Amino acid sequence: MATDLSEHPLIQHYLTILRDHRTQASEFRRCSRGITEVIMVEAARSLRLDPIDVTTPLELTQGARLSPGVVFVPILRAGLGMLDPAMSIIPGSSVGYIGLERNEVTAQATCYYAKMPDLSACEQVFVLDPMLATGGSAAQCVEQVKAHGAKRVSMVCIIAAPEGIATFEAAHPDVPVIAGKIDRQLNDKKYILPGLGDFGDRLFNT
Ligand code: PRP
Ligand code: URA
Repeated sequence: MATDLSEHPLIQHYLTILRDHRTQASEFRRCSRGITEVIMVEAARSLRLDPIDVTTPLELTQGARLSPGVVFVPILRAGLGMLDPAMSIIPGSSVGYIGLERNEVTAQATCYYAKMPDLSACEQVFVLDPMLATGGSAAQCVEQVKAHGAKRVSMVCIIAAPEGIATFEAAHPDVPVIAGKIDRQLNDKKYILPGLGDFGDRLFNT
């Protein structure tokens, strides 16, 4: 079952600015960063810890640090808007890339680029894509991530459509979806409603 984080006041604040058709690219980028940081803090709940001792100025106590081996896989292009804020939340992470583009008529995504590290020994993969619409891009990306050996994968997005979540969960029932907001539905062109339009175009001012 997908997680909807939209009760969080910061998510509501940033999402409203992202949705607004008047928001210009520079502000859109700033709010993409802000909302991704909040979503990533929640997504990071799945991370495991290694216990370590730490000495405070007063005594020795038990601490913990993140188990190494976190990998981010942004789906090009729009996923790039989430990469830098995600890395700032989890330093020491690695990055793999996948390029997927939806056909404007059929809404079917095809892969035009992939540069993935060996994921068989990694601790956790976070796939980053702001928009989960039909779920086709996310499902294809996770298929490739698993083919590279990943065992623990989470799908992190800003807005998801219920139809896309259903398709994605049918293909990858073991992969949790963490969304800033689950929106109402897709329109006949497979855009999310109310949505925010084309995320990549708004992020890159194209
Ligand atoms: C958008 C978005 C997702 C995909 C979601 O990418 O960034 O990757 O559509 O749609 P889906 O769930 O129906 O597959 P797009 O193909 O527009 O490419 P872009 O990021 O390069 O703009
Ligand atoms: N991709 C986007 O950028 N927006 C949508 O609403 C659907 C797919």
